[in-house]
Amino acid sequence: MEVTLRKMTLDDLGEILELENELFSPPWSYNSFVAELESDKRSCLVAECQAKIIGYSIGAIFYDEVHIMSIGVTRSFQKSQVATKLMIEMINFAKSNLIDSIVLEVRASNKPAIGLYTKFGFGPVAVRRNYYTKPVEDALVLILNGVCGVEYEFRFNNLKEGLKTK
Ligand SMILES: CC(C)(COP(=O)(O)OP(=O)(O)OC[C@H]1O[C@@H](n2cnc3c(N)ncnc32)[C@H](O)[C@@H]1OP(=O)(O)O)[C@@H](O)C(=O)NCCC(=O)NCCS
Repeated sequence: MEVTLRKMTLDDLGEILELENELFSPPWSYNSFVAELESDKRSCLVAECQAKIIGYSIGAIFYDEVHIMSIGVTRSFQKSQVATKLMIEMINFAKSNLIDSIVLEVRASNKPAIGLYTKFGFGPVAVRRNYYTKPVEDALVLILNGVCGVEYEFRFNNLKEGLKTK
């Protein structure tokens, strides 16, 4: 089944909120998504399969970094490389804005997400104690530097090639 990516619109928010409630605690509100869609310097994407939204990602430029604000894939499509596709576009978003660093917070126990980010070359730089609520948990701050460099280009090409062969 073909998975395609496109820009998120306000009309998508009904479906996205369903997904958000499935995947995150506490979930973002409708207004949080609207604020992202209405802000400059954002990459807001959805992944679709057979006209149904199965995933999404939001990246934001703050100063000289891209922050991954959110990324999620519906359970029935997880482990099918959908987040990998969304991450490739996140990297392209940074590169096209000449931004060399991407940063994010992740729940310390979130093995699938940490696995995803590690695959893209992110590493831990800090722990924010009790950062999350419902349940209370530490956040790991992960960063990827050198996104625009030649060395990362090699890794990035391998990730894109890996996607084609799956
Ligand atoms: C994290 C998440 C986005 C991954 O989405 P996905 O589409 O399943 O990820 P992919 O299939 O592209 O997998 C990419 C890599 O992530 C890692 N990964 C994905 N699922 C994993 C799992 N269950 N356990 C361990 N590693 C996992 C692997 O390294 C995988 O690479 P591989 O396929 O070469 O082994 C998804 O699990 C999700 O939506 N989780 C709930 C929301 C969330 O936690 N978002 C992140 C918040 S920081």
